[in-house]
Amino acid sequence: MKKIIVFASGGGSNFEALQNACVRKDINGKIVLLVASKADIGAVKKAEKFNIPVIIYNEKTIAEEILKYKPGLICLAGFLKKLSIEVLEIAPVMNIHPALLPSFGGKGMFGHNVHEAVLKSGVKKSGATVHFVDDEYDHGKIIMQESVPVLPGDTPETLAARVLEVEHKIYPLCVKKFCEK
Ligand code: GRF
Repeated sequence: MKKIIVFASGGGSNFEALQNACVRKDINGKIVLLVASKADIGAVKKAEKFNIPVIIYNEKTIAEEILKYKPGLICLAGFLKKLSIEVLEIAPVMNIHPALLPSFGGKGMFGHNVHEAVLKSGVKKSGATVHFVDDEYDHGKIIMQESVPVLPGDTPETLAARVLEVEHKIYPLCVKKFCEK
């Protein structure tokens, strides 16, 4: 069974989707730690509910801290900081991005900004991308993508909600496949 560490900066709905899939034994893995960018975020409350230990991200000590857990996989789930090479060398790192990479990715392209840019561009499709993480923002190898339509009258919020539904489906699926290897 693979030990998984999740990093989050927000509400933690992707973290929850991964945890649920582990509990259902869809994923042959266990989330052993949540790394949160700060204490007062929804993801931390969820970790407490799931009895998953939490540490607050500290750039200087993070590599050493997470090494103790011997992770086989690191999952970024709405984590907004860039990881150091030391962390990237500990285990493969996956990320979920709320658009169809390589479009609408890169520095500054997170949360609301992504969906605003998608709507501004006039594209008819958006979606979610799971990819491996390297040392450039939203750049590593793509593992899976699923698209959703952009509908007339969409706001960043309505589009985000449609994309998030797909995120909760494909992220656990990718982690499941990875843990089966
Ligand atoms: C998701 O849209 C994810 O794609 C992006 O940040 C958001 C995090 O949402 N990277 P949540 O904290 O998992 O609810």
